[in-house]
Amino acid sequence: MAGSLLRDRWVTRFGLIMAMAGNAVGLGNFIRFPGLAAEHGGGAFMVPYFVALVLMGIPLMWIEWTIGRYGGAYGHGSTPGMFHRLWRHPLSKYIGIFGVMLPAIIGLYYVYIESWSLGYAWQSITGAYWGKETQAEMGEVFTTYLGWGGGALAFGPQAYLFFVITILINFLVFLRGISKGIELLARFGMPVLLILGIILAVRVLTLETVDGRSVADGLAQIWVVDWSALSSPDIWIAASGQVFFTLSLGFGMIHAYAAYLGKDDDLTLNGLATVGTNSFVEVILGGTIVVPAALLFFGMDGIEVITDEGIFAISFQTLPVIFQQLPGGQFFATLWFLLLFLAGLMSSVAMFLPLLSFLQDELEIDRTKALAWIFVGVFIIMQPVMLLSHRGIMDELDFWVAVFFICVFAAAEVIIFAWIFGIDKGWEVMHRGADLRVPRVFYYIMKYVTPVYALALLSWYAYDGLLPTIMMEGVPPEDRWVLWLARLIVAGVFAFLAWGVWHAWRTHPKYFDDGNGEFEEIS
Ligand code: PHE
Repeated sequence: MAGSLLRDRWVTRFGLIMAMAGNAVGLGNFIRFPGLAAEHGGGAFMVPYFVALVLMGIPLMWIEWTIGRYGGAYGHGSTPGMFHRLWRHPLSKYIGIFGVMLPAIIGLYYVYIESWSLGYAWQSITGAYWGKETQAEMGEVFTTYLGWGGGALAFGPQAYLFFVITILINFLVFLRGISKGIELLARFGMPVLLILGIILAVRVLTLETVDGRSVADGLAQIWVVDWSALSSPDIWIAASGQVFFTLSLGFGMIHAYAAYLGKDDDLTLNGLATVGTNSFVEVILGGTIVVPAALLFFGMDGIEVITDEGIFAISFQTLPVIFQQLPGGQFFATLWFLLLFLAGLMSSVAMFLPLLSFLQDELEIDRTKALAWIFVGVFIIMQPVMLLSHRGIMDELDFWVAVFFICVFAAAEVIIFAWIFGIDKGWEVMHRGADLRVPRVFYYIMKYVTPVYALALLSWYAYDGLLPTIMMEGVPPEDRWVLWLARLIVAGVFAFLAWGVWHAWRTHPKYFDDGNGEFEEIS
């Protein structure tokens, strides 16, 4: 079998944890989290956030590591094959398609956003936007950079150049594979990222009082809970969605990484370390840098205006305005955008990994060819995503893959794991080689709470958000085709993968029948 798995492995424990943490720590920690926290009143957001972290984030992290290592031992680097090993039902491999499709589609717009940070790091070094000291002016810098202000197509020559550089960097790392590419990058990248984050957090903590407001007031906003805000379902939904996104859970991503573990490698302690590192970066660093600084300079009313402008405003407009008022601001602004870039890069290098594994392991396409196809395919599909980025295509893709389908996939995987494969067997497999015995309470959480939580979330989306989104409520008629295009991309990728699964299982059925139900290492 042309399995890819035996040729490569995570080589050091440190490298593995850094790679997993690098995957989880991303734009979600520094853009999405502060944006959502600010929008939902700071402290109040943290309550559902921590609840979701314990009831869903941590259990799912262990489940995904377990599924990945288990499937990996049979030579499957992506979820269709993994799910087939957990559940011998014709449907399981098709459910597994989501774990290949979701990260790949996120990659289509994530890499573009990541490239903005690189562009802005460059603009900070050169001082290109220096002197544009108001939110409105920085807003203009942003739309000009992206070409969002102009006509039917968004085109910014600089934005395009930095996009090309970013995608090339991504593929150069990706090409080098697991140990020499992704692991190596993370072993250096994560410590650098932490240092950048700490420098910026310290800078914010030592800011002086502005208009009678101190940093402490800004921090209080993140930590003081307004309990009444918790009665709205929105805040619970937003916080749960953020836990999925930030930990890269429900995407097939952690599974793909865990497939490169040895069958006796610990996963309980490592999985927990991943969650711990990501939460530290998100809550302590992300939470200390962005929101308190914005509050200090603009106050609560100002924040409301900023968040109304969209999720990117606070990182790409507000912070540059603030940096311009600080001594040495250009230096800090550069660090900030480099931090974003690095965080994005360590996540995006892996977004096409499940797809690559799928092409190699199940469709038996050789690695070089598979890489070339992915690069060309991704590059082409990214063009409309970029050119229509001002007309809602990214939001539409984001809703389907990063909001709705992750809930579908997460609910499906936890049910397959805890109820079909069986929690007892799952618990045993999970503890193979474990350096940490998971408290028994998680056995029950995995069996009852996580599935119910995921299903409740899914039902809420189905009830609340799905219909208006499908019907494109509030979308101007001239933009509707753009959203249709987004759906066509999602459907097209799904159809291709469904064909791939059907084809693979038909052409070499023996491979998928070997070692029925047994946990064994292929060799
Ligand atoms: N967890 C990443 C972040 O916080 C995003 C991500 C999602 C990465 C899905 C990989 C897969 O930015």
